[in-house]
Amino acid sequence: MAESMKGLKRTCRCAEVTEEFIGKKVTLMGWVAKCRNKGGLVFVDLRDRTGIIQIVTESEGADPRWGHLKTESAIAVVGTVQKRAGADNPNLKTGTIEVLPEELRVLSEAETTPFQVQDGIDTREDLRLKYRYLDLRRAELQHKIMFRSRLVELIREFLRNEGFLDIETPTLIKSTPEGARDYLVPSRVHPGQFYALPQSPQLLKQLLMCSGFDRYYQIARCFRDEDLRADRQPEFTQVDMELSFVDQEDVLDVNTRLLTFLLEKLPPIYRELQFPEELVRGIEHAGRDLKENGIGRITWQDAMDLYGSDKPDLRFDMKIVDVTEKVKDCGFAVFTNAIKDGGLVRGLNAKGLGDLGRKQIDKLTEIARTYGARGMAYIQIKSDGTVKSSFSKFMTDEEMQDLIAAMGGEKGDLLVFISDRFKVVCAALGALRLHFGQELDLISPYDFKFVWVVDFPLLEWSDEEGRFLAMHHPFTMPNEDDWKNIDTDPGSVRAQAYDIVLNGTEMGGGSIRIHMDDVQEKMLEVLGFTPERAQKQFGFLLTAFKYGVPPHAGLAYGLDRMVMLFSASDTIRDVIAFPKVKDASDLMMDAPGDIDVKQLDELSIAIKQEES
Ligand code: AMO
Repeated sequence: MAESMKGLKRTCRCAEVTEEFIGKKVTLMGWVAKCRNKGGLVFVDLRDRTGIIQIVTESEGADPRWGHLKTESAIAVVGTVQKRAGADNPNLKTGTIEVLPEELRVLSEAETTPFQVQDGIDTREDLRLKYRYLDLRRAELQHKIMFRSRLVELIREFLRNEGFLDIETPTLIKSTPEGARDYLVPSRVHPGQFYALPQSPQLLKQLLMCSGFDRYYQIARCFRDEDLRADRQPEFTQVDMELSFVDQEDVLDVNTRLLTFLLEKLPPIYRELQFPEELVRGIEHAGRDLKENGIGRITWQDAMDLYGSDKPDLRFDMKIVDVTEKVKDCGFAVFTNAIKDGGLVRGLNAKGLGDLGRKQIDKLTEIARTYGARGMAYIQIKSDGTVKSSFSKFMTDEEMQDLIAAMGGEKGDLLVFISDRFKVVCAALGALRLHFGQELDLISPYDFKFVWVVDFPLLEWSDEEGRFLAMHHPFTMPNEDDWKNIDTDPGSVRAQAYDIVLNGTEMGGGSIRIHMDDVQEKMLEVLGFTPERAQKQFGFLLTAFKYGVPPHAGLAYGLDRMVMLFSASDTIRDVIAFPKVKDASDLMMDAPGDIDVKQLDELSIAIKQEES
């Protein structure tokens, strides 16, 4: 039976009790993490968000219910703090003390839980997500959620001191083109019409600049109906900002300072939340590096050429080498045909993987294929000096030696080559590079390598749609020197857009916005918008731009990603209290779910029946 806490007032949290409390009376409330009966004495581990404290009953005269407490029950204890009678527990903050109880109240008795609430458990994630509130009782997850809260406080502190205003923007907005599919909300009052949930507050923050707020930020909820991955959720949070009368340098500067500030302030928080010491040292090291050297920059073109990715993982070197010139006249048709078709031949040197077996090489080819390559050519320089290659019979010895030299090949190296269009070569080699990095143990979760990726292309050709799409969004300012080529060679025009990349993950991105109506009109034309369609979709922005628009720019971080990276977590699910799974469902609430016919009727919506 559940008891009330009437007449009791919690005096402090469990792990806030220290040796200074010895001899004092405390009232503690929390959950029974463990209950052991040892020769008449009952030992209970009482847990709350600060940690665990041990309660030990006297051998005689104690409330008999102590011996039958169910784990995970919520209880209140009134008792006196004393030095531990038994051995100290160095793993607990309260490891030298214990509480001798006088009163027990079982506030809510727990049934047997579907899994043990314990760190390091190997329970299936779907079961943990179904009972997420129990999963969140585990210290490991609790500390990540608490870390997130502290990180947000720091971000707010920094931005407030820099003169940013926290302004909310609406969640029910108009569907506008921004890349991903929208989540739509039907309107009851306007039958057949829909709101969209914002993919980001992009246009609204631009309008706030038109209103003169000058520096805006928001911890904003965003919604995108896209395929999920370890670093993607259908609803996620951005640290979104926009600034007026600034150029790219201003935005990169304030954000480099924000990141430097965070790295400087995080170590004591990590220690308080018992994060691994390697992580604390890694962040401290990165913090010093940022303070002394700032954040390096790489152009999009270099990032693609050297690392095969616009979010290069710079924790290890291993650069892609272009050998197109070297092999353009060789006898290997796979290479020469690709070059004739306008493609490239590029390779990677995986030092130390020269002795891989056939099966492992096949696995690499599979990876390359997943990224669109038709195959992967390779040269193995085994540690005994013998050379094995998938294409040696098509090349002279001299050509082979030349190619090996161009790749810096030595005994024990594996050289892999992809010949295809630029996009495919980059994607396949980029993926292989990350695979090699992991295979060769070159990537540490406690190493933090930031880089600004700059000079993105303005447009991206879509084979699917047969037209150019905006690489960032339609309101991104082109590079002023390149703009003259917009009609003759649109693909070559660079944008004033930038991403902040950490350890191979795009943590944030932004751009300078177009504030000149002629440039905006042209941009929309290139993207295939008729003036009517542009007016219909975001006429409000185009109209606003007629009344005095300041030059402005901004950036948004994925907060979930930032927390994931700064806490060395594997997925953003670990740093979101109630995340969704791969198919975008919430296993705990069982959402999305059916709704009543009455609700549908009110919305003037009928569900299309599956054709049988
Ligand atoms: P962008 O689309 O690049 O830019 O998004 C900014 C950052 O948001 C994060 N992010 C996500 N995180 C989790 N799940 C997702 N599905 C997801 N999608 C994006 C990433 C990304 O870098 N309005 C512009 C910003 C600007 O120009 O100011 C925008 O939304 O970390």
